[in-house]
Amino acid sequence: MEMSQPYLYVHPVSGADREAAAELLGRGMADNPVHVMAYGGDDRSRAHRHAQLMRTLLRSSPSLRIEGVHRGEALAGIAAWAPPGHCRPPATTRLRLLGRALTYGPGTASRLLSWNRRWARHDPDEPHVHLGPVSVDRHLRGRGIGGLLLLRHVQRLDATGVEGYLETDRPEAVGFYERFGYVVVDEADVLGAPTWFMRRPVV
Ligand SMILES: CC(C)(COP(=O)(O)OP(=O)(O)OC[C@H]1O[C@@H](n2cnc3c(N)ncnc32)[C@H](O)[C@@H]1OP(=O)(O)O)[C@@H](O)C(=O)NCCC(=O)NCCS
Repeated sequence: MEMSQPYLYVHPVSGADREAAAELLGRGMADNPVHVMAYGGDDRSRAHRHAQLMRTLLRSSPSLRIEGVHRGEALAGIAAWAPPGHCRPPATTRLRLLGRALTYGPGTASRLLSWNRRWARHDPDEPHVHLGPVSVDRHLRGRGIGGLLLLRHVQRLDATGVEGYLETDRPEAVGFYERFGYVVVDEADVLGAPTWFMRRPVV
């Protein structure tokens, strides 16, 4: 007998769905190199701490747009992006994030701050849509869910004629983003792990 696959559907992530998105980001990013360097500890504690920070970010960043892919009942992947001019969260959100980071101890807080500053220094001056974070739940990777989110994202960029931008600390993700027209414009060592900065020119 043929087993039916859970259906996939794409939807904007808002309200209570943002809680599930924060959890997904915590789990999804916990083994990314810069995250490992910043948080230290084991996979579980990194996932927990990153989810807490992401919850703060997603709750208090009204300009951040988030699209999710549900697989059956569960959120399987998300892509978040900031429209031009909203690259960095507002000051009140940054303060909240700092307050949360300080609960992890001064060492972790200082690494998180330094990471954030290093990435922010690379933000292009030109108007751009800043993509990230993007994550697909670990057990569902390599099935086209991330590709679906990216395809929709670049279609929006093409429709509005705005440049795209992102950072990634995962070497495997560089090729993934290149498939959607992003090119590496810079590379930097952040907390001892490489980060690639990628732009997608207006077509
Ligand atoms: C990068 C990511 C969003 C891609 O989503 P996905 O659903 O696995 O992507 P797709 O199935 O559409 O495409 C798979 C491609 O993604 C790339 N990829 C990057 N990381 C991958 C991973 N951990 N597992 C599988 N594919 C990965 C590969 O190039 C793969 O190409 P291939 O099929 O030729 O091997 C997802 O792997 C992920 O969440 N990674 C961890 C978080 C992260 O690094 N996010 C991006 C940086 S901000």
